[in-house]
Amino acid sequence: MGRVLVTRRLPAGGLDPLDAHELVGPNPDDTPFTADELRAYASDADGIVCVLTDRIDADLLKAGAAGRLRVVANVAVGYDNIDVAAAREHGIVVCNTPGVLDDTTADLAFALILAASRLLHEAETDLRAIRWPGWGITQYLGRDVHGATLGVVGYGRIGRAVARRASGFDMRVLHHARTDTGEPGYVADLDDLLRESDVVTLHVPGGEATRHLLDARRLGLMKPTAVLVNTARGSVVDEQALADALHAGRLFAAGLDVFEHEPLVSPRLLDAPRTVLLPHIGSASQATRTQMARLAASAVATVLAGGIPPNPVT
Ligand code: DGY
Repeated sequence: MGRVLVTRRLPAGGLDPLDAHELVGPNPDDTPFTADELRAYASDADGIVCVLTDRIDADLLKAGAAGRLRVVANVAVGYDNIDVAAAREHGIVVCNTPGVLDDTTADLAFALILAASRLLHEAETDLRAIRWPGWGITQYLGRDVHGATLGVVGYGRIGRAVARRASGFDMRVLHHARTDTGEPGYVADLDDLLRESDVVTLHVPGGEATRHLLDARRLGLMKPTAVLVNTARGSVVDEQALADALHAGRLFAAGLDVFEHEPLVSPRLLDAPRTVLLPHIGSASQATRTQMARLAASAVATVLAGGIPPNPVT
């Protein structure tokens, strides 16, 4: 039996694979642990089940390694909150939750494509505020999704799941990835994909390598009629440059589920026209979040039992 730190409340049943272990945390009111608290718990734990808002940095991993920490499992597919190099250096296994959230996240990305393109937020906001004067032929004129060209940036599981949905809408699908997929629609140069797409959807991992991948210059390559959707990580887009482009009408609309400094959202983006903004709910269905928790918990149980988990990133 090991001692496992669980940093946040998880969906019911999510921790079942750790039934045989001693669990510590989360805070009774589910507030995040401070960095000091996390480090202190890590120094006395065999495993950690954490979420993407926990910073699992080099200090914490060093403190864990000085104790008996063997595994950290992030209840997320992204793991840019974890210093993977430091974990590797200390021989601590890091796991994530790939596979189980692809379709749920792709559903949300597609919902944002539709909502942003068809101005659902503006239309609904006016209706609820009793500002709708009645049907008008020139009201809320959005962009058609069917028949449009979709540019998928990052062609892993989630990007591909979005592409599959797009084919049902008769979209032409282009994709960009760092290495040639050899598949129809591959565009080697991201700039070319941005110039050609009517809708761009982002599915690359977060972290330094993709920070501001869409900066002011690249946003400037997009059509003024284009729609940008981000369900990946906020850091991938320069949020201020995006807000500028939306305010200036250099981009038609944006649908965002992730932000550079969550939970803060730049006031200029909150103010920007034709934006649909969601609080990082890409994988938020009951079934998927439960599966994510179970996958992370079972990875910890496997490592503590001396096995190799199916989903290591180290
Ligand atoms: C992930 O798994 O990385 C998502 O952002 C969580 O919804």
